[in-house]
Amino acid sequence: MSSCRKMLVAKGLSKTFLQGRGAVHAVSGVDMEIAGGERVCIHGPSGAGKSTFLDMLGALSKPSSGTVVFKGKELYGMSDRARSIVRNKNFGFVFQFYHLLPELDVVENVMLPGLISGRGRTRDVRARARDLIERVGMGHRLKHRPSRLSGGESQRVAIARALINSPDMLFCDEPTGNLDSAMSEAIYSLLLDISREKNMSVLVVSHRETTPGFFHAGYAMKDGILSEKES
Ligand SMILES: Nc1ncnc2c1ncn2[C@@H]1O[C@H](COP(=O)(O)OP(=O)(O)OP(=O)(O)O)[C@@H](O)[C@H]1O
Ligand SMILES: [Mg+2]
Repeated sequence: MSSCRKMLVAKGLSKTFLQGRGAVHAVSGVDMEIAGGERVCIHGPSGAGKSTFLDMLGALSKPSSGTVVFKGKELYGMSDRARSIVRNKNFGFVFQFYHLLPELDVVENVMLPGLISGRGRTRDVRARARDLIERVGMGHRLKHRPSRLSGGESQRVAIARALINSPDMLFCDEPTGNLDSAMSEAIYSLLLDISREKNMSVLVVSHRETTPGFFHAGYAMKDGILSEKES
């Protein structure tokens, strides 16, 4: 019954990497559900499987077993093309290591997913990109290439890029790991506004994110296994 309301449902999600003769069980049999507008965090130590799990939920990496259902559709049951459309139009992703394109400047990096989506004219995408860049406090660096940005600045540009298509689901991998506490607070306040305004769900994985009032639910991940967080 309640699963109808759920935006994203992971069942029995596992990922095993083959390494030489052995195997690394990075994620083992994880179940999780996220509702529309829900904000969830997963804490866990380095190597716990957080990024691997996020990549599978975000349609970036095929699970070894298990399913991910987004708005009633199995992500890894659809064609590669259909899956990449979901990734572009419905998902926003803030990567642990940013993945900005080095040959594009700040505005172009933020615009790119908006141009790919084919939603709206270039002029409108540019205006939206500039607005988001302002909102993450990077308005003074519009023409910079990523190699000229600090780690925290790159992170903020990556956050603006993840928001350009007004995603239903925002996936964040250590989104404020390189920000000071004031900037980190400002970013969470921006994400909170957008989440409320647009009913955007947010999933953050992190070593130690503590943001009072932001998250509805928290989980812990260790050795690839997810558990409800003791509060
Ligand atoms: N492509 C791969 N091939 C083999 N092993 C991998 C691969 N990717 C990840 N792993 C292993 O899977 C485990 C989980 O890695 P993952 O990157 O998901 O951890 P994490 O929780 O995100 O860690 P961190 O907090 O350091 O980012 C680690 O032991 C890692 O070495
Ligand atoms: Mg990681």
